[in-house]
Amino acid sequence: MIFETHAHYDDEAFDVDRDKILKLCYEEKVYPVINAAVNGKTCEATLKLTREYPFVYGVLGFHPSDAADYNDEERDLLRQRCLSSDKILGIGEIGLDYHYDEPDREIQKEVFISQLKLARELSLPVVIHSRDAAKDTMDIIKEYGADLSGVIHCYSYHLKDALEYVKMGYYIGVGGVLTFKNAHKLREVVEGIPIERILLETDSPYLAPVPYRGKRNCSLYLTFVADALAEMKGISREEAERITFDNAVRLFGIKDIQI
Ligand code: NI
Repeated sequence: MIFETHAHYDDEAFDVDRDKILKLCYEEKVYPVINAAVNGKTCEATLKLTREYPFVYGVLGFHPSDAADYNDEERDLLRQRCLSSDKILGIGEIGLDYHYDEPDREIQKEVFISQLKLARELSLPVVIHSRDAAKDTMDIIKEYGADLSGVIHCYSYHLKDALEYVKMGYYIGVGGVLTFKNAHKLREVVEGIPIERILLETDSPYLAPVPYRGKRNCSLYLTFVADALAEMKGISREEAERITFDNAVRLFGIKDIQI
């Protein structure tokens, strides 16, 4: 069984066959699936998916790209939404994204910190998105999130930072990029940290692994990532699946998977 820790099944890329894909995930034993929200609208869509599918869980939050829409009212709504269902397992995806100039970095930081505080208040783990913002992410997590648990999703930085996150108790999210020919940096990270700190994720519909690179991603393709991970760690795919599954259960605190 593979635990899909990060996907966006509310995305319009799945409008044509969402139900079919999710049912296939269940049949192929790729579950639970965690759907990650990025703003108010996708929080609602995530909650809806968790009601429709017993094996779909959610994390709710405002992505840095949507930080300009976050305010006190949205924070209160986010709190209510998190408390409204025991299938909401964390706050995410939240973080910093300096790839584009918008929203303003100061706004991104403020919104990130506010949601880290909310995670502490609710005793929930955090799912962190961070792109081109290694230093600020590390500084903020050290100051506001060192005592939280969480995952650095779709990890894209150096081994040195990964080791620091692992030391703080964080997990490292690994997906399709691991199968890319040019993924030297990520391979170094995976080789350098214990497999007990790695979570498998797709970020579907984005970042499909080889041989589907460039196409729409879905959780079924996690087998290719599990294969790559197993090969690097010198273990069987089944073992890689089992260990990363247990890691996700440990982080997200799912006690019984009743499906
Ligand atoms: Ni994502």
